[in-house]
Amino acid sequence: MTGVGSYLPKNKYSNDDLTKFVDTSDEWVTKRSGIKFRHFVSKNETTSDMAVNAALNAIKNAYIKKELIDLIIVATTTPDNTFPATATLVQKKLGINAPSFDVQAVCAGFVFALSVAKSLMKDNHFSNCLVIGADSMSKILDWNDRTTSVLFGDGAGAVVLQKFENIDEKLNDWGILSNVIHSDGNLYDLLKTNGGVSNNQSSGFIEMSGKEVFKHAIDKLSSSLEEALSLSNKVINQLDFLVPHQANQRIILAVADKLKINSKKVISTVKDHGNTSAASIPLALDHAISDKKIKNGNLLGFQAIGGGLSWGSSIIRIGKPHN
Ligand SMILES: CC(C)(COP(=O)(O)OP(=O)(O)OC[C@H]1O[C@@H](n2cnc3c(N)ncnc32)[C@H](O)[C@@H]1OP(=O)(O)O)[C@@H](O)C(=O)NCCC(=O)NCCS
Repeated sequence: MTGVGSYLPKNKYSNDDLTKFVDTSDEWVTKRSGIKFRHFVSKNETTSDMAVNAALNAIKNAYIKKELIDLIIVATTTPDNTFPATATLVQKKLGINAPSFDVQAVCAGFVFALSVAKSLMKDNHFSNCLVIGADSMSKILDWNDRTTSVLFGDGAGAVVLQKFENIDEKLNDWGILSNVIHSDGNLYDLLKTNGGVSNNQSSGFIEMSGKEVFKHAIDKLSSSLEEALSLSNKVINQLDFLVPHQANQRIILAVADKLKINSKKVISTVKDHGNTSAASIPLALDHAISDKKIKNGNLLGFQAIGGGLSWGSSIIRIGKPHN
């Protein structure tokens, strides 16, 4: 993972700003979620626009020519159009010649997309892959549902994955060391939109059983991280940082507590952008790199959960092996 970038739309809303059109308060949102701000796309701004901005930053930070990218995967739940894949628009806007497709696992999308990318790279099909998480959640929020609408925001994050010839033993402990992904469709109704193309020809709005999702999140985020650690022969104390899905500060803290990881090692940016779904991990990662917390060679844990329910974790040693 040699380059990371992100993008947040210009329009930024505080909790107080929301009180103008939702019956809520800064106190409630802060106490229940830790969220203070979220960004929303402007009327003509789309998921692919955000994805392209994040991708350009990631490519710049990887110090590679964009022409080297040979695969583009976009994790999104809020595509520009029902079809084709948003990734093909990203490809066009970036001017890159590479197969491009979307992965849809809602808030867990980025971890799922990493898993797909790693497998395709391991099979020697691709060498320089762009994995993007991008979502315009504001487009599917029901502002009459105050419990859910105040939690989400828009944004994009991207990473460049590069394959290196394994000439150095160091590389066995570098890059994406393990990935685990899970789904349980029995929990489909806990977090979903109330519409869909083949259901009622609409995109629908988000509906969530917040309390239920909260409980599943703590269990499943913790267990999948433990599974990923075990697969990579690591233990929690070896992680330099945990970069969790940024949905809710209470979930982040409860999982950290359950995993017994020092809270100083847990990246939290949810306060500044709310739940940006598939964008949340690469967005938080980019902010932590910009803040000079996460550095080249650090061992990281990623973990995410979302509608499906779908969830997963990854263990990654980030950066360039030969700096
Ligand atoms: C959504 C969530 C913050 C709600 O917190 P909660 O403590 O379960 O809150 P409840 O739904 O029980 O509501 C508690 C009270 O606050 C009120 N309330 C709900 N939303 C409110 C808002 N935006 N502003 C003010 N009051 C609100 C409710 O009406 C209720 O009032 P009552 O007790 O008088 O009936 C919490 O369940 C949660 O974090 N869930 C996980 C959600 C998540 O992050 N999902 C994404 C995973 S990808």
